[in-house]
Amino acid sequence: MFDAAATIENTARFVRGEMQEEGSHDWWHIRRVWQLAWRIGKAEGADTFVVEMAALLHDLDDWKLAAASGRAPSDGIPRRAIAWVQSCAVPQSDLDHIAGIIQSLSFKGANVETPMATLEGKVVQDADRLDAIGAVGIARAFAYGGHKGQPLWDPEVPPTLHDSFESYQRGAGSTINHFYEKLLLLAGRMNTKTGRDLARGRHAVMEQFLKDFFAEWNAP
Ligand code: NI
Repeated sequence: MFDAAATIENTARFVRGEMQEEGSHDWWHIRRVWQLAWRIGKAEGADTFVVEMAALLHDLDDWKLAAASGRAPSDGIPRRAIAWVQSCAVPQSDLDHIAGIIQSLSFKGANVETPMATLEGKVVQDADRLDAIGAVGIARAFAYGGHKGQPLWDPEVPPTLHDSFESYQRGAGSTINHFYEKLLLLAGRMNTKTGRDLARGRHAVMEQFLKDFFAEWNAP
C-alpha cells in the first residue's frame, strides 16, 4: 500500500545521497526549500505531499548542476526525478503533478516569465525563491559566484536584464550584478500571500547589504 509519509522520508534520504557538496545547490538548500515549502503549503491549504515531493526533487535535474558535473545539460525534462517518483509507486496523477512543477520551476532570466499552473507549484516556487534571497541568499550567491570564478563586483560591467534564457545562461559579470539581475526581482514575484510575507524581511536584508557593500567599496 502507498504510504505518503514513508515515501517522503525515503525521497529525502535518496536526494541527500545524490546532491553534490557545493555551497549553493547542496542538500542543505534542498532541506531549507523543503521546510519552507511545507510551511507555506500548510498555510495556503495546498496538497503537502505533492509540495514536499516536488521540493525535495526540484534540483535533481537542474541545468546548472548538470553543467558543473559535466553531464549534458538537461533539456528541461526532469528524468531522474520522474524515474525516482515512478519507483515509489506514487499515484499517476501525483507523479504528473510533481514532474510538471519541477519542469516549470527554474528561473530563466529577468524578462522570461515562468508561470506556475497549480497552487502546489506556486508554493514550491515561492520556497525556492525565498532561499535565494535574504542572508542565506547572499551567502549562496557568493558561494556560487566563487565556484564560477566570478568577481565580487566589477564597476566596469553594469548589470543587464536578460530577456532570454540563453543570454541568462551565458551571463558573465559579477556576483553583485546577480542581485540586480535576479535576486532583487524575486520578492515582487512571489505567488502566495505567505511567500510575500516571508520575502519582505529577506528583501530588506539584501538592500541593506548592498548599501553597506557600496559604502565600504567606495570609502575614501
Ligand atoms: Ni533550488
